[in-house]
Amino acid sequence: MENQIYPDVAGIDILECTIYELEEQGRLGQEKEYIQHGTTTVYEHSVRVAYISLLIAHRLKLKVDYKSMIRGALLHDYFLYDWHEKDDSHKLHGFTHAMTSLRNAKKDYNLNWKEKEIIAKHMFPLNIIPPHCIEAWIVCMADKYCATLETLGPLMLWKRWMAG
Ligand SMILES: [Fe+2]
Ligand SMILES: [Fe+2]
Repeated sequence: MENQIYPDVAGIDILECTIYELEEQGRLGQEKEYIQHGTTTVYEHSVRVAYISLLIAHRLKLKVDYKSMIRGALLHDYFLYDWHEKDDSHKLHGFTHAMTSLRNAKKDYNLNWKEKEIIAKHMFPLNIIPPHCIEAWIVCMADKYCATLETLGPLMLWKRWMAG
């Protein structure tokens, strides 16, 4: 398709390798067990956020640390529980899960400061301290974009179906 846009091939290669590495080294695969938005698992959401982050960096020709951006994006929702379950500890999920994800990710992986920044700040502005690096800003934007699509996507399909 002529108008279709893609991240560059190098970015996709790093994404594929990084998914493999993180699944081997830690609990990324566990995210397949938890739903994030609609019918999307946390795992699918995280891979999509990494992909859209690559797309943003590529289209805007931004100089970014691809590896750190992808690792941070893949681990940004590494909270590892089902936030839909009725449990008092999940009530503040929106505010607390960034730090829970960071804590879990630090246990399983050696994170650099950009990766920590991406995970810790991805809920800006709900968590009020803004990101301090371009990679964290990109993932923060990509996350909001993906969350909106995943939440509204089924509704839009249903509306289209109803309209015939
Ligand atoms: Fe999140
Ligand atoms: Fe997210």
